[in-house]
Amino acid sequence: YVIGVDLGTSSVKVLLVDQKGMVAGEVSKSYPLIQEKSGYSEQDPNQWVEKTTEALVELVANFHGNPSDIEGISFSGQMHGLVILDEQLQLLRNAILWNDTRTTEQCEQIYHIIGKEKLLEVTKNVALEGFTLPKILWVKQYEPNIFEKIHVFMLPKDYLRFRMTEKIHMDYSDAAGTLLLDIAKKEWSGELCEALGIDPTICPPLVESSDFIGTLTKEFADKTGLNEATKVFAGGADNACGAIGAGILSSNKTLCSIGTSGVVLSYEETKDLDFKGKVHYFNHAKENAYYTMGVTLAAGYSLSWFKEVFANNENFNDFVSEIEEVPVGSNGLLFTPYIVGERTPHPDANIRGSFIGVDSKHTRAHFVRAVIEGITFSLNESIEIFRGAGKKIDTIISIGGGAKNETWLQIQADIFGAKIMKLASEQGPGMGAAMLAAYGCGWFDSLDQCADKFLDVVKVYEPIPENVKRYRELFKIYQEVYEHTKILN
Ligand code: XUL
Repeated sequence: YVIGVDLGTSSVKVLLVDQKGMVAGEVSKSYPLIQEKSGYSEQDPNQWVEKTTEALVELVANFHGNPSDIEGISFSGQMHGLVILDEQLQLLRNAILWNDTRTTEQCEQIYHIIGKEKLLEVTKNVALEGFTLPKILWVKQYEPNIFEKIHVFMLPKDYLRFRMTEKIHMDYSDAAGTLLLDIAKKEWSGELCEALGIDPTICPPLVESSDFIGTLTKEFADKTGLNEATKVFAGGADNACGAIGAGILSSNKTLCSIGTSGVVLSYEETKDLDFKGKVHYFNHAKENAYYTMGVTLAAGYSLSWFKEVFANNENFNDFVSEIEEVPVGSNGLLFTPYIVGERTPHPDANIRGSFIGVDSKHTRAHFVRAVIEGITFSLNESIEIFRGAGKKIDTIISIGGGAKNETWLQIQADIFGAKIMKLASEQGPGMGAAMLAAYGCGWFDSLDQCADKFLDVVKVYEPIPENVKRYRELFKIYQEVYEHTKILN
């Protein structure tokens, strides 16, 4: 057996997986966000350790085998969050998370000092509030006494792993989201550190996601009931692990994941493509591979918002199934899902959503379908960026809430103009983490081989040509809405 630990933003999930890829146990524990001011989002890293420990205690207690049968453990982590430690390796403050937006000023400083061109050349990404570097600069500016004491910085799952092994590392897939990594050279950028007044020694040693880090400390093993000899592997960023868990391990594979936010992620063989920062470009958790990613901020969130306001007490599946009776294009009703701003293709925190073309004959079902079509149009913007760079996207694996409804899966096939594949079972990033441990333990020669054994496609949705044609026309109109509604804010 192996364990995948998925350290998320609202909870940690631990997954026990056997050699066939079957889930033999699963425990989840939640922890709160600390939001002291508007735009702030922090967490106490001790909580991650405490809750993961509790989850592992339960997982081991419910396990019928011997703890020594659990060979390895690896991680998937919420990205970008800043954890800082002093020389005694004690926490200096709460972690500042990926969804904290206090750092607009620091993003501007980065552009001012480094220049956008140079930043893109080294990190392949633009400066976003969520990334780690602006958070380090915020601490430097507003908490100089703390900044001075920083001995090392880490990302969330690295801190958890440190508390389990006493070893300090960061893997490339997570380091890529700091905005301090030279993505192509796979090394910390001394040049960026120097220009921004950051001591490069605070950057931890870099490793591959499947690298063996060490074994558990006696204290952690005793606390959880795990065997001290359990091998610990580095793990990766949640999006990279989600990709592995869905088998996105070669260049003809693309992922569409619709949760609260939505992600379209595409495997890249090379570090040489140039997307000019229009999509994120990160190192994959598979050695020497990359992935590009576009994000729709309010994907599932748009739908749950609509339900909460207009159908609060109804069963979610019944509410969504209304869309089957509404034709393609929702009889002229169009929605843009910018209810909390947008990331791709418009990195714009201020834009807001819209319903356009409302007719007195429209029913609530039209609105629900329009919301779902709008979310899918937004994700298609990312797909169009990939295609614009010359990528062929004809097969997409769809996971998350958006893959639970058959009509929505068909809408994805028709809007994306690609085959949509649904997996037999999906465990998300936790499974990707377990696969990194399985590969690290030597169960397989490659992650690809592991995916062949662990993952199964159960259904394929083919695009229907007349729907594809109609959606193309509507997508053009959808794309124009942004510019015209921008002035409202
Ligand atoms: C990616 C991002 C989020 C976090 C969520 O850039 O900000 O997907 O990884 O954990």
